[in-house]
Amino acid sequence: MEKKRVLVWDLPTRVFHWLLAACFVGAFLTAESERLRDVHVTLGYTMLGLIGFRLLWGVIGTRYARFSAFTFGLRSVVRYLKSLFTRSPQHHLGHNPAGSWAIYALLTLAVVTGLTGYAVYNDIGGNWAGELHDGIANAMLAVVIVHIAGVVASSFIHRENLVRAMVGGYKTGNPGDGIRYKHHWVAAVLVIATIGFWAGGADYLASITGVGPQAAAARNHVAHDDRN
Ligand code: HEM
Repeated sequence: MEKKRVLVWDLPTRVFHWLLAACFVGAFLTAESERLRDVHVTLGYTMLGLIGFRLLWGVIGTRYARFSAFTFGLRSVVRYLKSLFTRSPQHHLGHNPAGSWAIYALLTLAVVTGLTGYAVYNDIGGNWAGELHDGIANAMLAVVIVHIAGVVASSFIHRENLVRAMVGGYKTGNPGDGIRYKHHWVAAVLVIATIGFWAGGADYLASITGVGPQAAAARNHVAHDDRN
């Protein structure tokens, strides 16, 4: 069958990916700054929100975005990696088995980083929470580096530009294997919700739930006043 350009990644998956990547980089760069603490915390909460969305989209999303499409056992990962050193490397239109393990690791590490960050910011758990937060964030950086190396390596091995596919959504495959819809509206809601959160939703959420930069700052202020 003649291969054609087919749509693989719907828009919400691509928007999720690049927002998550941007938040991770932003949170990493602002981690040490006292002055940019609110930015760091807001980006951390944004990552948690994005992953909440991705967990839902992994169940109700399009064919290649669904977790069922990229849940592979260890044997499949080993078989895939071995095949890369042969003349006919396995090719997957969606996520490959090795990549999918990196993806699950990134999602898990991002959640644990966010939750431990919440604990640190709200003085829960003492020193260990801080140590864990730093350690997990560094582990996530290591997996991100492996992830990017894997993307570059498989782009060369399969002679397909995976980064371009994660931007535009298309890969080369059998015509019947593509997905039909990009789901623009879902992506638009995700972008609007993210911008809304950055533009003031974070403060509102803090005022009604006690979760967030302003609320923690207010608590710290009260604690400080009590000491005086
Ligand atoms: C900086 C932090 C990054 C994080 C946390 C991250 C995380 C992820 C996640 C969670 C996925 C799965 C997408 C999904 O199905 O929802 C993914 C896939 C992907 N990422 Fe990243 N990513 C990062 C950076 C990058 C960068 C810089 C590139 C480009 C060089 C990149 C290229 C890709 C590609 C091409 C895929 C699809 C892989 C495939 O075809 O199976 N990522 N990434």
